[in-house]
Amino acid sequence: MNPLNYRGKAGDSHQCNTVNPLNYRGKAALVTGASSGIGDAFARALAARGMDLLLSGRSEEPLRALAGELATRQNVRAEVVRVNLAEPDAPGRLQAAADELRFEPDLLVNNAGLGVQGPFAETPLERQLETLRVNCQALAALSGLYLPRMRARRSGAILNIGSTAAFQPVPYLAVYAASTAFVVSFSEALWAEAGRYGVRVVVVCPGPVAETRFGERAGMPPSLYVAGRTVSREAVVTAALDALDCNRPTATVGFQNRLGALAVALVPRRLQLTVTERVFRRMGR
Ligand SMILES: NC(=O)c1ccc[n+]([C@@H]2O[C@H](COP(=O)([O-])OP(=O)(O)OC[C@H]3O[C@@H](n4cnc5c(N)ncnc54)[C@H](OP(=O)(O)O)[C@@H]3O)[C@@H](O)[C@H]2O)c1
Repeated sequence: MNPLNYRGKAGDSHQCNTVNPLNYRGKAALVTGASSGIGDAFARALAARGMDLLLSGRSEEPLRALAGELATRQNVRAEVVRVNLAEPDAPGRLQAAADELRFEPDLLVNNAGLGVQGPFAETPLERQLETLRVNCQALAALSGLYLPRMRARRSGAILNIGSTAAFQPVPYLAVYAASTAFVVSFSEALWAEAGRYGVRVVVVCPGPVAETRFGERAGMPPSLYVAGRTVSREAVVTAALDALDCNRPTATVGFQNRLGALAVALVPRRLQLTVTERVFRRMGR
């Protein structure tokens, strides 16, 4: 069967992996934000499964180093396109560059993202808007550029990176949390629309992830990124690919985070806001 031409049912159990195993070999993936962190881990895992890769980000050096390593080690094609996804025309330029390379992704991994921690009124507005442009606008644009092609082929998949911050408003992380709520809502709606065309859509929601630059770049308190509070990049990749195999729309990474998501659904919003405001204000000190 064509592994990226899925017709599975939502909510299939984890065992669907063994019933409907995916074969990524010889297929192609476009990974945004592959120059570090989770994107780097996705690139490694997909190359190990035999996928050709187009790696994108702004930092050309680590992208080229990773592409060279994976091409040699895994014997796959690995291309690099440098692009700043905060620029409004960047998704179109990325697709044009991929077309020029005759690189057509079967899997689009919308992973590039950033956040800003701090009181909204006191953090640079430009950085907040950049967060929206990369996390929401570029992700929607790339989905909009590739989904019609996948639908026409009746084959393909889009994997978006959300966050547990999507499950409730987060004071002092207001724009980032709202941007991830957009990613989750948008992805789940696309999952429902695209399934009938043989295209899968998954959003994966981790809490703090180790060996990434996200926390430091966002100005998050280092105490959030200590062992015991984080999950590994590999756990994020595994949860995402399992959900893709099983055609689940959403994957929340880690038992504690799944429990947290359930708890949030039960607590009145006003109480949530009061508690999270206190917790995040203290953490930010
Ligand atoms: N780490 C966590 O705790 C955590 C938790 C939940 C969700 N996430 C999500 O996971 C995703 C990956 O982040 P990460 O944790 O791996 O952090 P990271 O190490 O900082 O990686 C972020 C990636 O996004 C790219 N990126 C950022 N701004 C960009 C721009 N304007 N144009 C193009 N690429 C850009 C970066 O590449 P360049 O700098 O080379 O451009 C980098 O490759 C993000 O969407 C983030 O929201 C992370």
